[in-house]
Amino acid sequence: MYEQASHSLLNEILIELKPEIGNLRLRHFYMRLGANFYSIHSLFKLLYGERADFKEQMVCLVETLAARYIERPSHLRNSDLAREKNYNWFLSQKWVGMALYCDRFAGDLQGLREKLGYLQELGINLLHVMPILDCPAQHSDGGYAVRDFCRVDERFGTVDDVEALALSLKRRDMLLALDVVVNHTSNEHEWARRARLGDKKYQDYFYVFENREIPDIYEESMPEIFPETAPGNFTWDEEMGRWVMTVFNHYQWDLNYHNPAVLIEMIDIILFWANKGADILRLDAVAFLWKKMGTACQNEREAHLVLQLMKDCCQVTAPGVLFIAEAIVAPGEISKYFGEDAIIAKECEIAYNASLMALLWDAVATKNTRLLRWGVKNLPDKLARATWLNYVRCHDDIGLGFDDNDVRQAGYDPFLHRRFLVEYFTGKYPTSPARGMPFAENLKTGDARISGSLASLVGLESALERNDADGIDAAIRTILLLHSVILSFGGIPLLYYGDAIGTLNNLEYLADPARRDDNRWLHRSHFDWNKAERRRQSGTVEQRIFSALKKMIAIRKELDAFADFDSRQLIQVDNESLLVYARTDPQNIRNRILVICNFNIEAQVLPVITLRTHGFFQPDGLRDVCSGNHIAVEDETINIPALSALWLVE
Ligand code: GLC
Repeated sequence: MYEQASHSLLNEILIELKPEIGNLRLRHFYMRLGANFYSIHSLFKLLYGERADFKEQMVCLVETLAARYIERPSHLRNSDLAREKNYNWFLSQKWVGMALYCDRFAGDLQGLREKLGYLQELGINLLHVMPILDCPAQHSDGGYAVRDFCRVDERFGTVDDVEALALSLKRRDMLLALDVVVNHTSNEHEWARRARLGDKKYQDYFYVFENREIPDIYEESMPEIFPETAPGNFTWDEEMGRWVMTVFNHYQWDLNYHNPAVLIEMIDIILFWANKGADILRLDAVAFLWKKMGTACQNEREAHLVLQLMKDCCQVTAPGVLFIAEAIVAPGEISKYFGEDAIIAKECEIAYNASLMALLWDAVATKNTRLLRWGVKNLPDKLARATWLNYVRCHDDIGLGFDDNDVRQAGYDPFLHRRFLVEYFTGKYPTSPARGMPFAENLKTGDARISGSLASLVGLESALERNDADGIDAAIRTILLLHSVILSFGGIPLLYYGDAIGTLNNLEYLADPARRDDNRWLHRSHFDWNKAERRRQSGTVEQRIFSALKKMIAIRKELDAFADFDSRQLIQVDNESLLVYARTDPQNIRNRILVICNFNIEAQVLPVITLRTHGFFQPDGLRDVCSGNHIAVEDETINIPALSALWLVE
C-alpha cells in the first residue's frame, strides 16, 4: 500500500541509514521494506506514536532489519525467494512434526544430528527442538527462563552446532523449529542484572514498581498461572528494592513492550535465529505480551499489534520463516493469533490447536464425542494460509480450556465436568486406568490441569502392571486413535518424543530439587533407546505403536485431501461415540476421505444413510487406507471397531 505520510518517512529513514547499509545492494530488502512499511509504520505509530523519540526508534528498527538482512546467509535468502514463490508450501500434508528436548533425546545437539535417522524412519520431517538457550541451572523452567538469547546452553552445544543441525536437516528435507521466548527473561539476564543495579534504561525493559500500589491494582484482575508454586504476579527484588512483574515463575521477569526498545531487541533476536537456519520460530506465551491494568493481561489488542509488527518485520528480512503462536487460551481467542486479515493484519502462520487437544482428552475420558463434536463445530474459522498445529500432548500440562458454552451444550455442568476429568486422569475416578497428576491446582478457583505421559494417561502403565492384555490393547488403540485425528484433521501434526514407543511416566524428577515441584517433568523423560530398539521386535508394545504410526504418517503424506485448505466438513451422525468428518482436495473435489473415529470401548454400528447424503457409500463400500480393508455395507450399516479410526476412500 502506498500511503504518503509513511512513504515520506521511509524516504527520510533511507537517507538517514548508516552509510554501510545505504551503500549495499539490497534489492529484495528494499522491495520488501517498501511493501511492508506502511503497515510497520502504522502499527509502530499506534503503539509508540506519542513518544518524543518515535522517529529515532523507527530508524533503529529499520536498521535492525537491514543489518540482519545483510548478515542473512545466501542459502537462506534463496530459500526465502523459493518460499515467496511457492507460498502455500507449509499447508502441504507432507509435513509431520515432533517436539523433543535435545539433551533428553540425544545428549546434545551433535548427538541429535546422529539420531535424525530415527525421526526419518518414523516419517518426521519437522523438528521442534525444545529451548536450548543459556538459562540458570536451578531456575530454568525447562529452558523458558533465558539468560542469554544468543547463546546456547553449553551442555547442549554452541550456536555453530545449531547451524550445523539446520544444514543437516535441510539436506534431509526436514524443517527446524526453535523457540523464542518473547514474553519474559530470566532474572539473571543482562537486562535484569542492569535493572537490578539501578540502570533506569533497563528497568524500563520490565514492569518495575517502587511499592505495591500499582501491582495491587494489576492483581485485582490478573489470574495466576502457577498458583501452587508461584502465587501472585509480582516478585520483590531485594537488591533492586522494587517489585517486578513475574507472571510465570518468580525468576521470569515479564518484558515491557510499552517500551519500543524491547520490541526492537526481540525482533533482532527473532531475526538472529532466523539467520541461524530456523525455518519456524515458536513464539512462547504470546497471549501475555501486553499488560494493562484492569484486564487479565492476556489477549490484549496490543499483544496482537506487537505480533503483527513482528511478522511484518520478519517478512522484510526473512520472509521464508514462519511463526508458531503458543497461545493456550480460550478457543475463541486462539485463532486470533493467526491475525484477522491475511494481508494487513497477519500474525503467526501456525498456532497450537489447544482446543482440539483438550477436546480429544475429553473424548478419551468420557468415551463419547459429545463435547468433542461441539468443540470442533464451534472451532473458529482461521485465516486462509494459516494452519493448526495439532497435537495430543506436549511438554506442558493438559489444560481443560474448553468453551463453557460447548460444555453446557454437550450436557455437562462445566465445573463438575472439569472436576470429573481431573479425577479421571489422575486415576481417582473408580473405573479410570489413567495415571496422571494434577498440575497447578488452584484451591481458590477449583481449577487444575493434568500432567502425565500419553501412555500413562490412557492406561498403558496400569495395564502393564496388571498384565492385562485387553487393557494394553485398549491403551495402544487409544494412542493410535488420538494420532489418527491429529494426522487427518487439517494442519501440521506435532508428535511428542517418546509417544511413538509408549513412554510411561517417569518419577526421576522427584529426586531433583530444581524440578520436584513441577510435575510436568513426569512426561519429560530421557528417551529410552533400549526401549526404542524393541520397535523392531514383532508384537512388543513399542512395535505395535511405532509401526502403526509410521504407516499412518506415510499414508497421510500421500493423500492430497489432507493438505490444509480448510476443507474439513464435520458430519453429524446419530451415534455419540463417533466423530466423523470428510476432507476434500480443493484441486479435485472427487478426491475425498471420510474419517470415522470411534472413542467407545465397544464396536459401533453406524447406519450409512447420513453418509450417503454426503455422497459416500454410493452405492458400494469404501476402502480403509490404513488397514487396506474393504468396509462393506451390511443391512445399511457399517461396523466401526472399538477405539479405532477409519480413513475411507472410494
Ligand atoms: C510456555 C511454555 C511453558 C513455560 C511457559 C513460561 O507456556 O510452553 O513450558 O512454562 O511458557 O515460559
